[in-house]
Amino acid sequence: MSTNSSVGYNEEYARSVAETEKYWQEAGKRIDWIRPYSKADGSSYAGNVQIKWYEDGTLNVANNCVDRHARVRPDAPAIIWVADSEGESLVISYEDLRKNVNRFANVLRMQGVKKGDRVTLYMPMIPKAAYAMLACARIGAVHSVVFAGFSAESLANRIVDAESHFIITADEGRRGGKRIPLKETVDEALRIARMDAKVLVVKHTGGDVSFSERRDVWLHDVWGTVGTECESEEMSAEDPFFILYTSGSTGKPKGLVHTTGGYLVYASMTHERIFAYQPGEVYWCTADIGWITGHSYLVYGPLANGATTLMFEGVPNQPTPKRIWDIVDEWNVSVLYTAPTLIRSLMAAGDRWLEGTSRKSLRMLGTVGEPINPEAWRWYYEKVGDSRCPIADTWWQTETGGVLITPLPDTAPLKPGAAMKPFFGIIPDIVDENGESVPQGTQGRLLIRRSWPGQARTIHGDHARFMETYFSAVPGAYLTGDGAHRDVDGDYWIIGRVDDVVNVSGHRFGTAEIESALVAHPAVAEAAVIGVPHPIKGQSLFCFVILRDGYQDDEGLIAQLKQQVRADIGAIAVPDDVVCVPGLPKTRSGKIMRRILRKLVAREDDLGDVSTLVDPRIIEEIKTALSLNRQV
Ligand code: WTA
Repeated sequence: MSTNSSVGYNEEYARSVAETEKYWQEAGKRIDWIRPYSKADGSSYAGNVQIKWYEDGTLNVANNCVDRHARVRPDAPAIIWVADSEGESLVISYEDLRKNVNRFANVLRMQGVKKGDRVTLYMPMIPKAAYAMLACARIGAVHSVVFAGFSAESLANRIVDAESHFIITADEGRRGGKRIPLKETVDEALRIARMDAKVLVVKHTGGDVSFSERRDVWLHDVWGTVGTECESEEMSAEDPFFILYTSGSTGKPKGLVHTTGGYLVYASMTHERIFAYQPGEVYWCTADIGWITGHSYLVYGPLANGATTLMFEGVPNQPTPKRIWDIVDEWNVSVLYTAPTLIRSLMAAGDRWLEGTSRKSLRMLGTVGEPINPEAWRWYYEKVGDSRCPIADTWWQTETGGVLITPLPDTAPLKPGAAMKPFFGIIPDIVDENGESVPQGTQGRLLIRRSWPGQARTIHGDHARFMETYFSAVPGAYLTGDGAHRDVDGDYWIIGRVDDVVNVSGHRFGTAEIESALVAHPAVAEAAVIGVPHPIKGQSLFCFVILRDGYQDDEGLIAQLKQQVRADIGAIAVPDDVVCVPGLPKTRSGKIMRRILRKLVAREDDLGDVSTLVDPRIIEEIKTALSLNRQV
């Protein structure tokens, strides 16, 4: 909350949107190109939607994230790895990183992985996960990292959709003292997928896992057989770099495709500018590599900038809520980037966990993934940062590749709960249902009017779905799925999703996905899922189910239904509430009126316009079912 003016920001922003091509041509120089580009923006949101940046340039991401720093600062720490068990850590210099990535890349080549092949990673948060990602980048393989909390069923779907015949995993992961079966889940996923694939396995915990001589390869068996030099593949800027799956409001999760050049320019530039990163500082992003935040701001952005990035294997509030501050103090963390859900849970645990910790090394704080409530913002600002450290409330998405709306170091004063300003070159707008821009202060749908280098290019194997999802509602603009409003100062406030996507602890779930998991159970005839406010998670999943004849609403069945979602999607998607109801509020055309369900859960008396409801008696029956609900 300093009193700096925004002159620097305003001037640069104006230039970035007035002379976009020139601005991005200049910005692209921050990374090393093998063959320079002659043009920056080749995108068009019209017609077939083509997004292209730096198209005739060539480069290699691993050269940019590893080699160019290893050449000049070989001993500088690239990754600080902090293990789940306290006291265990590893510091990996840029030269160590170079050798490890090269070895890993040689292993992949030796196993037959080629440029363009899709490689699925199902990995714990260990350095070899980063080596694997960078090794793919080195040889031009396209990685698809699947968060290690997803179930075998979800993993199978992603392996099949990506047509991936090569999987990298570990025996087990470790989180909060618990062991997470990874190899076992991969085995199960490949049984479900019925796919012929090779599995490269990292020995991490040494746990007992099954091993197929025909299909599986232990990394340590081949590690010593390859060298530490590995020629990198010359990639076109628009060659696919990675696929990352995310949930939308309809259908199965979609594999967003990010390409090589523009993504790296945007990830590295936003990382440096938003956090005002200074060489030598230790930067800690708590996201898992299974999410876009882990890709852009744990691995690629910071490493492209030659930063020291801290990678933590465990859970920041375990074994106690002091763990996170102990790590900050022990490693002199300057920048901490985390999620509102963690901040709320730390706040709920009480200030006593901050006592005895210094946090003096912190210079800047960041949040991402969901709206941050002003109370949690203030706690983060006043208690964690001792009212010294600015907070970057960064708004972005898997689709955007990097941050689009955020405070920048000179856009102060900050406002608790506001994502503030568009990043350079970004032109947001807020529109109503008809696509017309709304007046200042009015809430509407957030969209972006022009492309930027980090934007996802397509949905793997389904460009029609990409166009339909993001570009059909308002032609010529990218529709984000979020609601927002703009205040008198032109600052943006993000409200959250306005489509059928629920954000639980910063993780996206489509209500349709959860509903189809529920109806896959023989007891369930129909299901409707909504997101409801939750004090720690932001939102939680609340499910209504109609049972088939012959099934009894009891605790055993409710537990089975939750288990069904766990098996189908993963532990992170388990709903807090499942309530059996005799019917659902529907319109004459059969559409479920979720708006009414939300109001009923919130115990609101005014249900709004119910004139389109087919059977109003259902309201009283749902109220009765809700009054009997005793779940958390
Ligand atoms: C939400 C995560 C409010 C938003 C990088 C978006 C936010 C979705 C913020 C994307 C923020 C992310 N304030 N909401 N600062 N950051 N969101 O794809 O609803 O996992 O659409 O990407 O998270 O989630 P995703």
